[in-house]
Amino acid sequence: MLRLSRASFFCRCLLSPSNQSCGVTANAVSGRRATDLQGVLAQYDGGFDLGRCKFGGGPGEGAAVEKKEWCECRLLFTQTKPAILSHTEETMREFPLTLTQFVIQSQAAYPGATGEFSSLLTQIGLVGKLIAQDLRRAGLINILGTTGDTNVQGETVKKLDAIANDDFVRVFQSSGHVCALASEEMEKPVFLPGNWPHGKYMLLFDPLDGSSNTDNNMPLGAIFSILKYDRTDRLPTEAELIRRGTEQVAAGYLLYGSSTMLVYTVGQGVYGFTLEPGIGEYLLSHERIKIPDKGKVYATNEGNYSKWSEGIKKYLGSLKVNDKATGRPYSGRYSGCLVADVHRLLLGGGIYLYPGEVDKPEGKLRLLYEANPMALIVEQAGGKASTGTSRILEVEAKKLHQRVPLFIGSRHDVEQAELYIQGRA
Ligand code: AHG
Ligand code: MN
Ligand code: MN
Repeated sequence: MLRLSRASFFCRCLLSPSNQSCGVTANAVSGRRATDLQGVLAQYDGGFDLGRCKFGGGPGEGAAVEKKEWCECRLLFTQTKPAILSHTEETMREFPLTLTQFVIQSQAAYPGATGEFSSLLTQIGLVGKLIAQDLRRAGLINILGTTGDTNVQGETVKKLDAIANDDFVRVFQSSGHVCALASEEMEKPVFLPGNWPHGKYMLLFDPLDGSSNTDNNMPLGAIFSILKYDRTDRLPTEAELIRRGTEQVAAGYLLYGSSTMLVYTVGQGVYGFTLEPGIGEYLLSHERIKIPDKGKVYATNEGNYSKWSEGIKKYLGSLKVNDKATGRPYSGRYSGCLVADVHRLLLGGGIYLYPGEVDKPEGKLRLLYEANPMALIVEQAGGKASTGTSRILEVEAKKLHQRVPLFIGSRHDVEQAELYIQGRA
């Protein structure tokens, strides 16, 4: 007989002025979720004492509460009865949650959740594993270089762009979770036939981000945006895929760097998972990522300097001023892969900018596949994403492959950039 030393569970606590710290005692788990909580615990063969609240969303642990407010939190439970397990106590204590475990636990906080979303995320993870596997041996299996084609954006298609796009389509058209797929690499969306197993989600993606890095073993990524389609009487049209960023129900990215990571948000914070290659599982490695309010790094392709407006040139100049008191000069760090650059900023702060040019004001990056999903993630981590004049998530989407200027990262840094662009600094 071995003991499972602890387990965790997501729940929603109702906080009131007389009950300000969430989840410290069983009584603190109040409101309509209490029954569900007991239901989940009953599935385990062993009693549990309610432990401390590991972290809280909403007003947070110990925060002053003025009225009744819901608080999302993960509670830790200590098991009091022995249970028969195939792992040692030590292993269980050290072993982080897998992506699937984490999503299922998070889902318990949403009454009526069907499990479809958690399965969808697992399929994204699968795509990540397929691509990561190819990337690890890319130089050996003749998948570097170009296909000889250009895509709908007029860009040269790398063999790996095409392979990554095929992986997404292959996995998702038989997943049963989506009804439509749209990709940076496909001129038109793929709508699953009505008689084919399909689900309520629509997936928009950049299958391989940072394609110029493929041939030199530099970081790459993939970006995804998930929308929900509510009608059941017919499949969506192309126009129904073209929505504002605020309508995303989830977004995330895969990062193929020195390790493979999956980072995502469902609008309740940002969570990062690292692929443990030995067991082929994504394990929770970055809980509730928060971007610093101000950074010391800027990421941009400065080769485009002469094409930028005066405001942007002045902003760049301001980052290079030597002024210790305001943390300047900033360091320049640019990988050529939006995912890798934004990942760095999420963890350490700073700004990524791909501005419009005087002769190409729409910029380069794609609103639906790149800017919107990255903006949702960065906002959920406490940062900002702007076109220079407005919030990315509120940009009106008019066409599938629409481009947009992007300024994204720490709140203070993006606000500074906006001041210069708008001629207010
Ligand atoms: P993609 O490889 O999907 O076309 O995206 C490339 C994007 C982005 O990842 C990167 O930051 C930027 O374009 C690089 O562009 P430049 O080569 O112009 O710097
Ligand atoms: Mn891209
Ligand atoms: Mn791409």
